[in-house]
Amino acid sequence: MFNSKTTINIALLGFGTVGQGVVDILHKNKAHLEEKCGKKLEIAGIAVRNLEKKRDIDLPKSLFTTESEKLATRDDVDVVFELMGGIEPAKTCVLHALQAGKPVVTANKALLAEYGEEIFTCARENNLPVGYEASVAAAVPVIRFLRDGLASSQINEIEGILNGTTNFILSQMQEKGQSYEEAFNLADSLGYLEADPSLDVDGWDAAHKLVILASIAFKKYARLADVMREGIAQVTPADIATAKSSGKVIKLVASARKVEGKVTMQVRPVALSNNHVLSGIGAGMSGVRLHADRVGDFFAQGPGAGALPTASAVLSDLVAMLRNAEMSGFGF
Ligand code: NAP
Ligand code: HSE
Repeated sequence: MFNSKTTINIALLGFGTVGQGVVDILHKNKAHLEEKCGKKLEIAGIAVRNLEKKRDIDLPKSLFTTESEKLATRDDVDVVFELMGGIEPAKTCVLHALQAGKPVVTANKALLAEYGEEIFTCARENNLPVGYEASVAAAVPVIRFLRDGLASSQINEIEGILNGTTNFILSQMQEKGQSYEEAFNLADSLGYLEADPSLDVDGWDAAHKLVILASIAFKKYARLADVMREGIAQVTPADIATAKSSGKVIKLVASARKVEGKVTMQVRPVALSNNHVLSGIGAGMSGVRLHADRVGDFFAQGPGAGALPTASAVLSDLVAMLRNAEMSGFGF
């Protein structure tokens, strides 16, 4: 795919929290990344909504455009990073990029949870990879772990803290005695929130990520509509105090189980005992426990949201693509 190229030109669709994180890592770790990839890496262009917005990273104005679809299919672009979020124009950009022969990396879990089948079908038709490690648990390589590392196992249970924002808010309230508003504003300043924060606090974001993990684990496109979902809006300081007095901690837990061929998925606040493996997942972290038949329990944790953890996963996908790792689809 990239064999004849000495330089890989990246189209960056989105220059918000994650997009700027990607450029930050690209600048600071350039030599390391280029050595890993065996290619020079350059930014060919950047699509944003507002050309006048002040950015944390100063780049030539000539790189910026508001025409994301045009940039995604431009002749000089070798790979497209979709970091805009939302469904449109992200979906059209991804499909058109693939149809124009460009591999794609995306962090957009909402898009994959709702349109994964269409996107991966298009990727297969065009014989191109779509990297999406950043879409679940950011820097924690849980997609590769589940899809490739455990490919020979049958997974029958997934349980995770998948949303950084709600985990941060609940942790700050429980450990630091902060109010919901204080903790919410801090999470915002750390770049954890979705553009529409109700996706975080109402459990949609965790549900999107669960759909991706469940699709991989159970080898069938899971549906968002099948996730029983409850956010953290109903969690009161009294609930937190009650949980604390009985040695428990409240977390927004996403879980999927397959029992006798039937998959159930839910996202809801749960009071976990202090000895539960997910109870110690602190603010800003994500954690996933998996149960594989004939093998047993696995657990992965690490930085699960924010600019650099997410950008790290995006760039790891690029490195994997350049090493020719097969990356299309949910692995079935
Ligand atoms: P963000 O800060 O809101 O940035 C979105 C960027 O996309 C902005 O630069 C925005 O332009 C641009 N954009 C939005 N709509 C556009 C359009 N129609 N045309 C051109 N540009 C457009 O979002 P983010 O936090 O970086 O998240 C990006 C994606 O990564 C989302 O899918 C999110 O779910 C996912 N993600 C985020 C995190 C995280 O911790 N933040 C972690 C994992 C995955 P302007 O700057 O001009 O507004
Ligand atoms: N808003 C998301 C979260 C970003 O809080 O987990 C990381 O996917």
